[in-house]
Amino acid sequence: MPETTTDTTAGAADEIVITDAAALAAIEHAADRAHRGSVWLTAQRNSRSQRVGRYVQESVAHPAKMLPEIVRHAIAQYTAPGDLVVDPMCGIGTTLVEAMHLGRRAVGTEYEARWTTLAEANIALAHSQYAPGDAQVFNADARAILSAVPSEIHGTAALVITSPPYGASLHGQVKPTAETGQSGVQKFDYRYSTDKGNLAHVKVSELIDGFAKILSGCRELLRPGGVVVITTRPWREHGELVDLPGEVVAAGVRAGLEPIERCVALLGGIRDGQFIARPSFFQLSNIRKEREAGQLQAVITHEDVIVLRRPLAAATTDREPCADDCCPRSGDSAAESAADAGDHLAGPDCE
Ligand SMILES: C[S@@+](CC[C@H](N)C(=O)[O-])C[C@H]1O[C@@H](n2cnc3c(N)ncnc32)[C@H](O)[C@@H]1O
Repeated sequence: MPETTTDTTAGAADEIVITDAAALAAIEHAADRAHRGSVWLTAQRNSRSQRVGRYVQESVAHPAKMLPEIVRHAIAQYTAPGDLVVDPMCGIGTTLVEAMHLGRRAVGTEYEARWTTLAEANIALAHSQYAPGDAQVFNADARAILSAVPSEIHGTAALVITSPPYGASLHGQVKPTAETGQSGVQKFDYRYSTDKGNLAHVKVSELIDGFAKILSGCRELLRPGGVVVITTRPWREHGELVDLPGEVVAAGVRAGLEPIERCVALLGGIRDGQFIARPSFFQLSNIRKEREAGQLQAVITHEDVIVLRRPLAAATTDREPCADDCCPRSGDSAAESAADAGDHLAGPDCE
């Protein structure tokens, strides 16, 4: 039995001294969480210096990697050493590598063989550096994640952390004329692939439907109370706002998850009270074009962080939540109240 001492000796009547190591650790963890707040300082160092030495050089080719500090922050915030972390769209394996270095177990799936191979190389590098955790990656379509990963891990994950593909034009590599000999800046590695099955290449409505299916599978991988962290951001298309963060929350609710927090992960640093933005070439170029066309836009300097969780209470129905079109969507008040109750509205073709 762990020891807890309450010291009520003279002069210390209102002071409680706790000597139970587990209780102390829990209090420190709670205090640490409390002052971390909803704005995550995740880019005090630029992305290159966050990755140096931890990722194989070829990883740079991926057009939309997550900042390692975002992953580290989420893992520290929502898991304990030994916990299982899942990334269904893991790219070159940032989530897996950072989880390993923090002593967690990790499992990822990635649609593209090219990125899966790089994730494997990054896992091998982390092992060679004696990272205390372990990770596995599977080349698979995350819309069928439950059949892609070992069944023993179903219902055991503490955290899912992921980012849907979006706005490919914001990302990628560039080479100047001096390097290529061709006129104008040349873009390369600015798309995930040319495969139309990759959710990066579909309309926003299809992306959201696919992402809701992925979240539905992830819900079954989580233990009750397990958390999902999704980074995303809005963008403008022909002047119209594409509210991907709002759509992602709705997709999560459709998948039977409950929203618990909404945070911001900074993509720029704060130095001497000044914010230092670090926009990519593509962001700057797009904003300039929009402004020339009369659209007053600013560079986005943060990711929206959507935090949801698998409900703690058992659902009142045996049915699984459905991410297919047969069920009502968020926005439909009946669907929302059912989701609030951890319940699910079934449509005619819904199992
Ligand atoms: C925003 S990136 C994630 C990058 C990753 N967090 C990293 O740091 O490398 C989204 C990834 O989702 C992958 N993807 C797209 N559709 C997918 C699907 N149906 N199943 C699994 N992965 C998919 C893309 O190939 C891309 O690598």
